[in-house]
Order: sequence, then structure tokens, then C-alpha cells
Amino acid sequence: MRARLMTAALLMSSVPAAAETVAISAARMFDVASGKTTDRPLVIAVDGRITAVGRQGELSIPADARLIDLGNHTILPGLIDMHVHLTSDPTLSGLQRLRYPGSFWTAIGTAMAKKTVDAGFTTVRNVGSGDYGDIGLKKAIERGSIPGPRIVPATYAIGATGGHCDSNALPAEYTRDRPGIADGPDAIRQKVRELHKYGAEVIKFCATGGVLSLGTSIGAQQFSQAEMNVLVEEAHMLGMKVAAHAHGNDGIKAAIRAGVDTVEHASLADAETIEMARKAGTWFSMDIYNDDYILAEGEKNGLAPENLAKEKEVGLKQRQTFQAAWKAGVKMVFGTDAGVYPHGDNARQFAKMVEWGMTPADAIRAATTKAAEALGREADVGQIAVGRYADIIAVAGDPTQDVNLLRDIKAVVKGGMIVKDTR
Ligand code: ARG
Repeated sequence: MRARLMTAALLMSSVPAAAETVAISAARMFDVASGKTTDRPLVIAVDGRITAVGRQGELSIPADARLIDLGNHTILPGLIDMHVHLTSDPTLSGLQRLRYPGSFWTAIGTAMAKKTVDAGFTTVRNVGSGDYGDIGLKKAIERGSIPGPRIVPATYAIGATGGHCDSNALPAEYTRDRPGIADGPDAIRQKVRELHKYGAEVIKFCATGGVLSLGTSIGAQQFSQAEMNVLVEEAHMLGMKVAAHAHGNDGIKAAIRAGVDTVEHASLADAETIEMARKAGTWFSMDIYNDDYILAEGEKNGLAPENLAKEKEVGLKQRQTFQAAWKAGVKMVFGTDAGVYPHGDNARQFAKMVEWGMTPADAIRAATTKAAEALGREADVGQIAVGRYADIIAVAGDPTQDVNLLRDIKAVVKGGMIVKDTR
């Protein structure tokens, strides 16, 4: 099959033409739902959504179909990263960030979005950005003005005064604009409504201190139980899921009790908390690659000694918690915190997840079917299945044997259009 390819240049020019049919073929397909690999798959998509999945020679190709032959490769669904910050650059960490205006971070976000989709991540949940940068990126990507993944935006991460989601570097006389900060149930409820009004599709908040903030203790809870309860109640009422940043055990517990959908980091969860999460069906989204990058590059990138000390406290413990939580049956998704390490390297985390207890297929599911489930987006992303977007990636071998193949994505199709092809 000789392909007539839709190029990235065409993608840039406009919104896709109406009623376009594509037929995508390859040598093999890894079906994440069944865990089976099939030979000679054929996927038909109309207007970017899959209308049929079958085998070459069995399923007929519509006469008007544009052919995308991914050759001797294995296809699988476009990947989903549940925790990114597209408007961050890890090489600009620490105080040097204060020298750049809000517009700078949105501007670099366009490059980060391209790196992300080129790495095979066709959907991301952006859990915190300033200036509604993720909304601008999302709209530009959806128009076809710039390449990038589908974005589920949180806009600002909500946090308590002085907490991990605040910016604590400057003395009072230099600190003005803190749009994500809210204290007390009423202010928090109002903040959730406000972010929703301006485009948030998920609410992110800080339930404990963090590694990369100043003056916060990782173990310490931030926001009272009553504050978290209101935040989750309001977000759910508006149809949004809630992601809680939480390293410390008490904060994780309070977040689970409040009914959050995903706990981010979850580093210091003990056995009792793990059991609580399992019972409640709360997802863990654990960024267990991060530690390697932060310890190797953090100092050079401008992180303060305080941040590095906190990373040393939490890194190994988080991986052990990951292993214990997975073993105990906690539902887990793939979330990396890209932006803390370089965008485009998202898939490096797969090998860590395998090292700490998952099979390659489990790890791939965490970034596809499971992530779609946690997003409430089983209708349109996370699987090569009828009704979903034709978001398909190609690798040169069997990723269930070598999960690191996902670090070298040969082709990316998003909504039936080729956004990357390096075969
Ligand atoms: N954004 C997170 C924080 O500042 C990054 C944590 C990275 N470290 C880790 N071991 N996952 O808390």
C-alpha cells in the first residue's frame, strides 16, 4: 500500500477538511484492552474518529479513503500523560524563572506541545499553568494553528496561601498577583467556579507541601478537610474531575476522604492510606521517573538546596510506595510531571514503572485505557476502537517485550492526520 500522506505542513494550514476518510494499516497492532497483538490490522476513520477496526483483506477500504500505511511497525493507541505542565521548562528552575513574563511561558508552551505530541502523547492533562496558558495552547492546537496534543486543562492550580501552589520566593512588597490562591470554603468554591468559567476542565489543587516549592514541608497537609470537601463538591457539581497534589500521608488521606479522582505523587502513602485509596477507587498518578532527573540536573537548573534536600527525602520512598500500591490493587495511571524534566521524554517513565512492579502491558494501559477511564474520556481517547479518535502511534517492534521502544516513536497519527513520520 503506497501512502498519500497528509503532512505536518498541511496540518498547520487549516482545520481538517470535512468528511475525510482514512485507512490506516501496519504490520501489527497491540490491543491494550485485550492485551493481544494482532497481525495486519486495518483501521478506518472518518473525520478523525474510528469507524471500523479489523484486518487487512477482511475489512474493506472505502473507495475515497486516504491511505496511511505504517509499514512494518506495531501500532497502539496514542499515549496519555495525566500530569504535565506544558508551560514549564526544567532548565529554567528556581529563582531565575522570576525574570520571565507570563507571555514567555505560554510562548515556549507551543514548542513543548510539539515535543509532547511528537513523543506519541496525543492527550495530556495539564495540571497547572499561569495566565490561562493551557487554554490558549488548547485553542491554538484545536484550530490547527500549531501542532500539539489534546489538552485537558486545569488552568491555575488552586492552593492555600504560602502552600505548594503559591509562589513563595519574594517578600511581601514584591508579591501581587496570585490568581490560584484561595483560603476558606467560600473563596475556594468561588475559585473553582472562576477557573471553570475561563476554561478549566479539571481542577488541580495542592493538598500538601511539595519538593519544588520554597518553604513548604512535603509531609504537611495544606487545606483543611472542610476546604477540600467544598473544592471537590463544587468541581464535581460542575462536571469536572479533581487532581490533588499530595506527598504527605495525612494530606493524601484527607484528599481521598474529600473524594478526589486522582492523587498526584502519593509519595508517602502508608499501608492504611493505600487501602483507603483502593477501597474508594481513587487513582494514583505517580511521577516516579522525576527523581533521576532532579537529582542529576536540578542543581545546574537552578533549584535551591531546600528543593534538592526534599527530593532526596522523597524519591526512593515514592518508588517503594508505587510498588506497594500497585501490589495492593490501587488503580494507577501514567502521570509524569513533564516540565519538571524535559518535555518529550515522557516515555522514560515506562521503564521505571516496569522496574517497580508493572508489566509493560500494565504500564501501557496506565497511559491509555486506564488514563481515559480516569479522565472520564472512554468515549474518545485511549484505545483503537470504534467511536474514538484515530490517535495512533507506531513503534518498531513489540513494546510489551521492550517498553523502551516507546521512547522512539516512529509515527504519530492524531485524529486521522499524520503529525510525525520519521520512518
Ligand atoms: N512537582 C512535584 C513537587 O514539587 C515534583 C516532585 C518530584 N519528585 C518526585 N520524586 N516525584 O512536589
